[in-house]
Amino acid sequence: MAVIIDGKKVSQEIKDEVKEKVAALKEKGIEVTLAVIQVGNDPASTVYVGNKKKACEYTGIRSLAYEIPEDTTEEELLKLVCSLNDREDVDGILVQLPLPPHINEDKVIQTISPEKDVDGFHPQSVGALSTGQPGFISCTPAGIIELLKRYNIQIDGRECVVIGRSNIVGKPVAMLLLRENGTVTVCHSHTADLKEVAKRADILIVAIGKAKFVTDEYIKDGAAVIDVGMDRDENGKLCGDVDFESVVSKAGAVTPVPGGVGPMTIAMLMCNCVYAAGLRRRV
Ligand code: GUN
Repeated sequence: MAVIIDGKKVSQEIKDEVKEKVAALKEKGIEVTLAVIQVGNDPASTVYVGNKKKACEYTGIRSLAYEIPEDTTEEELLKLVCSLNDREDVDGILVQLPLPPHINEDKVIQTISPEKDVDGFHPQSVGALSTGQPGFISCTPAGIIELLKRYNIQIDGRECVVIGRSNIVGKPVAMLLLRENGTVTVCHSHTADLKEVAKRADILIVAIGKAKFVTDEYIKDGAAVIDVGMDRDENGKLCGDVDFESVVSKAGAVTPVPGGVGPMTIAMLMCNCVYAAGLRRRV
């Protein structure tokens, strides 16, 4: 029977650690501040943004909310981002994605000052990660590594297989696993014999967006299985990319959905805000 990796518990520990750091900065006269921009009112985005605000409240980070209309022009949004770049009192800037189709997401991401890029999506942050330089690491991949570390799951020298090659999860988590000395394979929709490749994994990361896709046939006995999916099953119930019931008796460790990787993303965002304040405010 697998160890169930409790992302909710670990994320709580991290938020408590952040809370102490935020309080210590406050003693030095620094109020860690995150600006969150939401364009339009996509319901999923509203939930995510609400959770980010709650985490800020809990950790003592000041949050500035910009909820702006769906028909905001790209120029107006870029102007807002630039004004936040220029503000001394703003440490982190997060533009909730997806943006409406008339706005170029890449252009917006590239306009965020790399010093305030708490999402870690700016090409400078991505480049720094790839070349082993210090910089912001995007929150979900950082959360995955943190979970593995806190559960003493060794990465060094082990076979790590990532299913999915997105810019926000698959690629950056592969870079991070490599940085931790894992032997990394990245699989995607064109991979021949996915099952056989996945079965090589000591650590299997699944981020493909297909409900309950990975069953026990994809895993080796004792593997650590990290599920990044947020899907709905045939009854509309929240589930992951991994068929939890199928793998739980074969895996060595597995993350549930909900309560696995999800809560870690926001905890790591809070960490990135403290890192941003430390970078810019020279403490
Ligand atoms: N939309 C879904 N996840 C994220 C995230 O981590 N950051 C931003 N900015 N938008 C998202």
